[in-house]
Amino acid sequence: MELMNTSTSRINMKIQSTAGLSFVLVLLFSSSWAASAQNHEDFLQCLSLHSQNSTSISQVIYTPNNSSYLPILQFSIQNLRFTSSDTPKPTVIVTPSHESQISTVIKCSRAHGMQIRVRSGGHDYEGLSYVSELPFVVLDMINFKSITVDTETRTAWVQSGSTMGELYYRIAEKSKVLGFPAGFCPTVGVGGHFSGGGYGVMLRKYGLAADNVIDARLVNVNGEILDRKSMGEDLFWAIRGGGGASFGVILEWKIKLVPVPETVTVFAVDKTLEQNATNLVHKWQSVASKFPEDLIIRIIITRVNSTRDGEQTIQASFNSLFLGGRDRLLSLMQESFPELGLAKEDCTEMSWIESVLYFAEFPRGESLEVLLDRIPLVRHYFKAKSDYVKEPISKNGLEGIWKMFYEDEAEAAYMILSPYGGKMDEISEYAIPFPHRAGNLYKIQHLVYWEEEGEVAAERHISWIRRLYSYMAPYVSKFPRAAYINYRDLDVGMNNQGNTSYAQASIWGFKYFKNNFNRLVKVKTMVDPGNFFRNEQSIPPVLLWRKKKGD
Ligand SMILES: Cc1cc2nc3c(=O)[nH]c(=O)nc-3n(C[C@H](O)[C@H](O)[C@H](O)COP(=O)(O)OP(=O)(O)OC[C@H]3O[C@@H](n4cnc5c(N)ncnc54)[C@H](O)[C@@H]3O)c2cc1C
Ligand SMILES: *[C@@H]1O[C@H](CO)[C@@H](O)[C@H](O)[C@H]1NC(C)=O
Ligand SMILES: *[C@@H]1O[C@H](CO)[C@@H](O)[C@H](O)[C@H]1NC(C)=O
Ligand SMILES: *[C@@H]1O[C@H](CO)[C@@H](O)[C@H](O)[C@H]1NC(C)=O
Ligand SMILES: *[C@@H]1O[C@H](CO)[C@@H](O)[C@H](O)[C@H]1NC(C)=O
Ligand SMILES: *[C@@H]1O[C@H](CO)[C@@H](O)[C@H](O)[C@H]1NC(C)=O
Ligand SMILES: *[C@@H]1O[C@H](CO)[C@@H](O)[C@H](O)[C@H]1NC(C)=O
Repeated sequence: MELMNTSTSRINMKIQSTAGLSFVLVLLFSSSWAASAQNHEDFLQCLSLHSQNSTSISQVIYTPNNSSYLPILQFSIQNLRFTSSDTPKPTVIVTPSHESQISTVIKCSRAHGMQIRVRSGGHDYEGLSYVSELPFVVLDMINFKSITVDTETRTAWVQSGSTMGELYYRIAEKSKVLGFPAGFCPTVGVGGHFSGGGYGVMLRKYGLAADNVIDARLVNVNGEILDRKSMGEDLFWAIRGGGGASFGVILEWKIKLVPVPETVTVFAVDKTLEQNATNLVHKWQSVASKFPEDLIIRIIITRVNSTRDGEQTIQASFNSLFLGGRDRLLSLMQESFPELGLAKEDCTEMSWIESVLYFAEFPRGESLEVLLDRIPLVRHYFKAKSDYVKEPISKNGLEGIWKMFYEDEAEAAYMILSPYGGKMDEISEYAIPFPHRAGNLYKIQHLVYWEEEGEVAAERHISWIRRLYSYMAPYVSKFPRAAYINYRDLDVGMNNQGNTSYAQASIWGFKYFKNNFNRLVKVKTMVDPGNFFRNEQSIPPVLLWRKKKGD
């Protein structure tokens, strides 16, 4: 999601500690507390007994009666839907500072029937990194944030609790001509982002973040620390796009940095319906995935006030990064998309790192240090969905979308169209678990934000986006209706709380991974046959495959 700074939904993110207080009271007085307290105590005792370093682990454990518990829990929550007092909370939060502490948490969790939710940047759309219906521990990777950039070999080791902003900052600190192709939002964590794919404005030139991962270290279900060599190519394949949470706790990634020119050019050209937006969007669909790979133009659609008093209209914002200078961009646009009427004044030349700030919606001239700030400027209540488009949508089809954007619930709704083609067409559908490659013109992210607290407002907006999603069905990919795992959407299917059948999981599994789902199931069966690492959309193991392998 690239769009947080919308004036319509600016929300103060100050943490409400009253919500947490009522949670503690409920916990203390509910009858189930007594029963679970024993497990909870045993679990805590296990942590200190089995720790090689019990002094240090006791310093990174937060129970609900600790005054830092709620601030730490709330700190990286992105979606306000999961900050309410009735959102299930973890029994314990552990913020490991040593790798050995992670092994200890895994072993004690298994011994005492606790679930683990691993959190890096906390940007999961459905809160899966910090919400569970079963008793659980949040393993928050916040202290794993070292980044080592090596410009000689053009590689970097990045610990999973680092944010994208920190990574971009550390690269730019060392080189003006190296970058990395990943997401827009500086507070996204690399732990979740890379393990789900990770795309940004350089995807037409260099593919996804996960396409550029060359090694990784993780802790497996037995508490062992593995790297690419010792985990083997199947598991290394699975964690680059298959979602990390099914396979272990990722400690760090080794990535390949990519060349960027000293000068890049950006533009944003807004067109309303009165300014021919429908025709331009229609035309864009058939040209955007064919541009040279140095050029990406995405479109952000939303409802805005019209220049006529009191009226509203739909706006399509054509927003672009070009890996080169302004003059070459202008002649290229003249050749391939003259209808947009791009003018010299629309274009701004800057360094690649400045373009990172631009796409993160910081004002021009902002200090690069803002990239190191882990607290986002704004947080929202939101719900999002994704779609892939293989054939241009007709003008009639587009007009039907505009109609839905005039509805009340769509006051802060967006549709973000991101073109594919270029490098995305060249990478095999099986190279990593992320399967959405050749044949896709563009991806859509559907988004709706709101500001009002509570179930009623949530229900209204969520039902609007579900209706939009139904409306889109004839125009987007089918069998399966493809979706992007990093835009997590539990509407596309869910597991049971315990073990889930292959058939049930394949409902959502094929949407995210197509046929790669089968290989993910095989890897899961190999590395976590007891299904310890699980959540609402984790890959299930299948007993049959395990037996066949003579396990
Ligand atoms: C404001 C915003 C902007 C975004 N922009 C983009 C974008 O430009 N491009 C894009 O592709 N996506 C984008 N996303 C989506 C983002 O890529 C995903 O939400 C991603 O999973 C977030 O990673 P995280 O570490 O912050 O999340 P978390 O919530 O910490 O984790 C997400 C999932 O990964 C698991 N996980 C996290 N860390 C680990 C680990 N170390 N080991 C194993 N499993 C782990 C969690 O358990 C959870 O299942 C955006 C999201 C938001 C909220
Ligand atoms: C134990 O903790 C201390 C202090 O945090 C640390 O310096 C030391 O390396 C740790 N030892 C082990 C074996 O993890
Ligand atoms: C809260 O937990 C932290 C980390 O374990 C610890 O350092 C701190 O002393 C605790 N605070 C209180 C008030 O118990
Ligand atoms: C906080 O909770 C933990 C775990 O239940 C318990 O061991 C500890 O004594 C409690 N501390 C206080 C100050 O209540
Ligand atoms: C509107 O856009 C279409 C297609 O892009 C173009 O052919 C047409 O000339 C444009 N009309 C106006 C009035 O700009
Ligand atoms: C749009 O217009 C409404 C009422 O006319 C006004 O309240 C609102 O602030 C305007 N929004 C923007 C973004 O200008
Ligand atoms: C899931 O299946 C595994 C393997 O058969 C079994 O060990 C485990 O107890 C099951 N878990 C649940 C919650 O049913």
